[in-house]
This record gives sequence, C-alpha cells and structure tokens, in this order.
Amino acid sequence: MGRGRYPARLKVAPPPPELAGRYFLSWTARDLYAAPEQFPPASSPGLFGNDWPLELDIGCATGELACAIAALRPTTNVLGLDIVAKPLWRAVETAAARGLTNIKFLQADARLVYRKVPDGALQAAYLHFPAPLLRNRQRKQLLISPELLAQMERCLAPGGILSVLTDQEALYAELHALLPAAPRLRLTPPDEWSATTTELVKSHYHRRWEARGRQIWRAELRRVV
Ligand SMILES: C[S@@+](CC[C@H](N)C(=O)[O-])C[C@H]1O[C@@H](n2cnc3c(N)ncnc32)[C@H](O)[C@@H]1O
Repeated sequence: MGRGRYPARLKVAPPPPELAGRYFLSWTARDLYAAPEQFPPASSPGLFGNDWPLELDIGCATGELACAIAALRPTTNVLGLDIVAKPLWRAVETAAARGLTNIKFLQADARLVYRKVPDGALQAAYLHFPAPLLRNRQRKQLLISPELLAQMERCLAPGGILSVLTDQEALYAELHALLPAAPRLRLTPPDEWSATTTELVKSHYHRRWEARGRQIWRAELRRVV
C-alpha cells in the first residue's frame, strides 16, 4: 500500500448538516488567496467564540490525536487541519460520538491557513508524520519548511510548543537544518518533552510505521520570548 492511500480508501460519508455546522469548515485555496478577509481568524475567539488556549493539529487526517487532546483538555480548543476532506469527515464522526464541544476540523491547505492565525494564538501545534519528499518538484508541498518555522515563531504563544514526529530521517534532518533561521524556537531536551504526543494516543500512521519496525524521529520545539 502506498503511503498516501489511507485517507482516499476511507469509506465515509459527508457529515449531516447539523454535525457539519458544529464541527466542519472548508476554506478553499482559491478563496484563501483571493479574499482571505471573508474567513474569521484561526483563533479561539474567531472559531470558538471564547478565549481558551488553542492547539492546532496540522495534517490531522482522521483526528485521532486531535480528539484525544480535546477529550483530555476540556477547556482547551483544538483545531484539526487537513487538506483532504474524507479523513476529516471520519474525524467529525469521532468527535460527535465522544460528545466533544471544544474541537473543529478545517479542510484547507495548512500553508495558506497560517496567515489567518493571529500572533501568539497557538498554545501548541502538532505536525506528525507529514508526507515525505517524494520528488524534487514536490518540494514546495513540504510542510517542514522555512515558512512553517517562521509562522510557528509568530503564531505560538511564548512557551508554546511545536511537536514533530516523522519516520523520515531526511525530514528530521531538514528540520534541524532550518532551526538556525528560527531563533525563537528552541529544541526541548527529551526529558522535558510533553507527554501528550506519544503517550496519549498513537495515530494510524504512528502504529503503522512502528509495526514495520521503522525508527520514529521526534522533536519538540518551544517558542521562547
Ligand atoms: C501521513 S498523514 C499523517 C496524519 C496524522 N498527522 C498522523 O499522525 O497519523 C499526512 C496528512 O497530512 C495531510 N496534508 C498534506 N499536505 C497538507 C497541507 N498542505 N495542508 C494540510 N494537510 C496536509 C494529508 O492529507 C494527510 O492526511
């Protein structure tokens, strides 16, 4: 099975209007480019109407981690973001089945959504198992990029964290190579890593790569003032 096929193979229907209204947003790339002002800020006030801390799961797929965090922290908001709709429809089913009220899922290109996040609006962001670099011409699609780190320096609140997990040593090396250009993000030593990411839940991809005996690379970056 190819790396990217899992979301496409999902057998899931779009959520009914009531659930879609509660949990699902879709912002097209064309509209985000042409008229970004038509969308609310990607923040707790903008999306949830309160000022609770906000955590962003970038490329959340079926929302396993996002839902687990929302259930664990009922006074934190969670935004699960993915460019593909189908896995998000499954994420909506999960959130509804668990009765979660502090989570939403946004179908959009993460690279266009960052600019809708106000300065310091994120308490945490997760980028777990982003797609690997397959061909050079796909470089612009990489989520581990100078843009990601610049945006995280801006969007994370002081003390906030960006968690990265990958089975791709090259991506892990790329992240480290980019760090000198992002001085407000500091690597946290392993003994200070937050428990949320790996102990709380292991996603479909995490379980899949672990079962195949792949090494999982982990980095946690903290925004310093
Ligand atoms: C390998 S999956 C990882 C899913 C999940 N984070 C996990 O740990 O299991 C990568 C996800 O990133 C999403 N993705 C890829 N490019 C994206 C982009 N530009 N914006 C938002 N999501 C993207 C894909 O649709 C896919 O669901």
